[in-house]
Amino acid sequence: MYNEIDLNKIDLAAEPPAEEPSRQYYFMAKCRERVREFEQTYGRRPTACVTTFGCQMNARDSEKLRGILEQAGYQEAETEEADFVIYNTCTVRENANNKVYGRLGSLGARKKKHPQMKIALCGCMMQEPTVVEKLKASYGFVDLIFGTHNIYKFAELLYLALENQGMVIDLWEDTDRIVEDLPVERKYSFKSGVNIMFGCNNFCSYCIVPYVRGRERSRSHKDIVKEIRGLVSDGVSEVMLLGQNVNSYGKNLPEPITFAQLLKELEKIEGLKRIRFMTSHPKDLSQELIDTMAASEKICRHLHLPLQSGSSRILKEMNRRYTREQYLELVGRIRAAMPEIAITTDIIVGFPGETEEDFQETMDVVRKVQYDSAFTFIYSKRTGTPAAAMEDQVPEEVIKARFDRLLAEVQQIAARKAEALTGQVQTLLVEEVNRQDASLVSGRLGNNSVVHIPGDASMIGTYVRVQLDECKGFYYYGKAV
Ligand code: 5AD
Ligand code: SF4
Repeated sequence: MYNEIDLNKIDLAAEPPAEEPSRQYYFMAKCRERVREFEQTYGRRPTACVTTFGCQMNARDSEKLRGILEQAGYQEAETEEADFVIYNTCTVRENANNKVYGRLGSLGARKKKHPQMKIALCGCMMQEPTVVEKLKASYGFVDLIFGTHNIYKFAELLYLALENQGMVIDLWEDTDRIVEDLPVERKYSFKSGVNIMFGCNNFCSYCIVPYVRGRERSRSHKDIVKEIRGLVSDGVSEVMLLGQNVNSYGKNLPEPITFAQLLKELEKIEGLKRIRFMTSHPKDLSQELIDTMAASEKICRHLHLPLQSGSSRILKEMNRRYTREQYLELVGRIRAAMPEIAITTDIIVGFPGETEEDFQETMDVVRKVQYDSAFTFIYSKRTGTPAAAMEDQVPEEVIKARFDRLLAEVQQIAARKAEALTGQVQTLLVEEVNRQDASLVSGRLGNNSVVHIPGDASMIGTYVRVQLDECKGFYYYGKAV
């Protein structure tokens, strides 16, 4: 693991090593030299702030960025009033991009007053050529831009940005590389995300992810097991396995292995108590996985199973490769094997050509499945995706009205489902002291529901049997029993 490498022992007079990850450790040590110079000039350590937009993949990537910044000698800043600010961006919907431009404007104003400040941008949005053109034209104060495929090179790029005055840009179109064993600074001591695969091959017609995250690549199961063993010995008891489509894990490895087989391997790790994963694509969710989950003591009773639409016609246009009937049949099998499982979903409203009848079919699936919660999205046109060129884009006000109806339905069902668990005793992993009321601690049940109970910071990271006394729609108040 990375902590076996002592940065002080790296010969900085030598040429940088060609192989990874040694090369990046060399540049971490180089950055440290610059950081020391900063300390001498300003009489304090430089501060760094990593701001994350988007999904759990990005959150995990940001932990890697923080790990490298820490090794380089930066002190973590709580706010963007820092010497180094990096935005790890998302581009899945247009409003994600707009948020970045908005905040970048204020960051630029701050840099005018603090010229020593460095600003970096990385993540999915940077993989779009039009974005980079816009940044070059109107946001010349940005010091460093890189993308999703070369994030492992952050130490090297940071060093270049510290050495140079202009804008450093390094963007790759794709990669088949996975670099292991770089430092990570985890947000929580007791739980962690673990990437099991990168990229996506599905090309759902509305989605930009395959274009910005590249082709599907799985990590070897040995590397995953090794990482999780290391995490467990470091105090982690819950992992969230991350991939755009975890159900197709392992298909392209030299020795193919299924996702269910990987889960069985992980189940054996002593000290690991909870295993979660996301995201599952319904078309690839196997009976083997259902059986493995049902037989498991550790895999949480929660499945995030994006529906996107309940209309088979729209699903076809979306290139989802399942029908409404197949989806419902799958949910039936999952529920038959695990009646207590929580099922959550993603739904898009207003895909091109969506009629009132199509929308009614979505509402109907929502009522039939009875989701424990659902993320609902207004369709966002992403340039370069097949759906962006489709005729028959649905008018905004029609989408908005449908969205409101869907949201009301989803919320009503979710509240009813949550209410049904009131009075039960379940196991809670305590995650943090409640932000509003310091006499409470908050955590999650296996099914991912949030519960607040009386307690203190000493309980963080522990598992407590709790009674769910009062349901508040999306969360519970309870007590230890
Ligand atoms: N518009 C709206 N929602 C989208 N998603 C992906 N692409 C789009 C888009 N163009 C949603 C999907 C996916 C979730 C992560 O984001 O529902 O499951
Ligand atoms: Fe996008 Fe579909 Fe891949 Fe999910 S499975 S990332 S929605 S293309």
